[in-house]
Amino acid sequence: MNETVTKTAYQAEEIRKQFPVLHQLVNGKPLVYFDNAATSQKPQRVIDALIHYYQTDNANIHRGAHALADRATADYEATRLELRKFVNAEESEEIIFTRGTTDGINLVASTYGRMAVHEGDEVIISAMEHHSNIVPWQLLCEERGAKLRVVPVTDEGELVYEEYRRLLSSKTKLVAVAHVSNALGTVNPIKQIIADAHAAGAKVLVDAAQSCSHLPVDVQDLDLDFLVSSSHKMYGPTGTGFLYGKRALLEAMPPYQGGGEMIKEVSFEKTTFNDIPYKFEAGTPNIGDVIAYRKAVEFINEIGREEIAEHEDGLLRYATEQMRHIKGVRIVGEASEKVSVLSFVIDGLHHFDIGMMLDARGIAVRTGHHCAQPLMHRLGLEGTVRASFSAYNTKSEIDAFLEGVERVSNLAR
Ligand code: ALA
Repeated sequence: MNETVTKTAYQAEEIRKQFPVLHQLVNGKPLVYFDNAATSQKPQRVIDALIHYYQTDNANIHRGAHALADRATADYEATRLELRKFVNAEESEEIIFTRGTTDGINLVASTYGRMAVHEGDEVIISAMEHHSNIVPWQLLCEERGAKLRVVPVTDEGELVYEEYRRLLSSKTKLVAVAHVSNALGTVNPIKQIIADAHAAGAKVLVDAAQSCSHLPVDVQDLDLDFLVSSSHKMYGPTGTGFLYGKRALLEAMPPYQGGGEMIKEVSFEKTTFNDIPYKFEAGTPNIGDVIAYRKAVEFINEIGREEIAEHEDGLLRYATEQMRHIKGVRIVGEASEKVSVLSFVIDGLHHFDIGMMLDARGIAVRTGHHCAQPLMHRLGLEGTVRASFSAYNTKSEIDAFLEGVERVSNLAR
């Protein structure tokens, strides 16, 4: 039989129906939510999962001898299994729940970093990192007497790759780099970055906060050592996220925080630590949010990351092309590989004012340095206006945004 696979058209309007927050007026206008890189909105099923947990299953996990504790434990662990599949980790024990990306990076800096980075060693980051992928490494390098090396970026917002290769040496213990720049949307060539780091004997941490909801990430295919991300940028609740680490690394690393759950036996003379992943999950975790996180992953999987990426790419291309025709607008970040982020400035207007004027039209964007001050400094800017798109955004929202930007820009002319 001759089977033909027909691709269903992307149903942005149907997807929007799942997000109650989107259906409101802001300043008398229909909300256009373009601040997705800061946090994405939550589908009804995530909100329902939170309510369900607190209404029916609320209990502490892994320790109760009763039905509620069993149900909560099973649901909590089900999210770990879902995330294992989501990033294609070999084992679910390699998934550690954290408070989010920042917490994941600090965990690795405090454990792997303290174990592996010594005086004279080097850690490589890039000039487009979010502060959360700069400061923990600065603190570590200061403490260890190590050196932080920074891969520069071009005017377009791409890594100067030859410079990265030049910085790699036997002194490099770790490379920590964003998969996608939160401020510019640049997609970094992480597969090559990882291969080159490994060839130099270094491990790699990828900050996937801005990529997990847009692009497929396969940790085995990438041969990645550490991956960190946040639930709240993936349509899930705030306050949770995950760290993926290769089993051998996680087992070799010292614990992060001490407390309940992360131990096997405690006496005043000696404590033995639990197996992974629990060794890194001290104390009562964020149970309800972790449980609801699975529903967010389920939402992404239902649509498909390739389909989401294709839809968002269409929006980004359209918006970018149209913005070029608006007088006074300058797009910041013109990398050849980008996802879903359109940063810009308008001659003669401050980015905060632009943000406020767009808000008056119901359009939510982020303004400022986007927690990437060194990058802004490199580009000679104090900040930008950032519009970031998501699975539920539409072309008609882009049109409303373009009209808003044009009106705002005209004020300065
Ligand atoms: N990291 C988030 C952003 O880029 C908060 O807006």
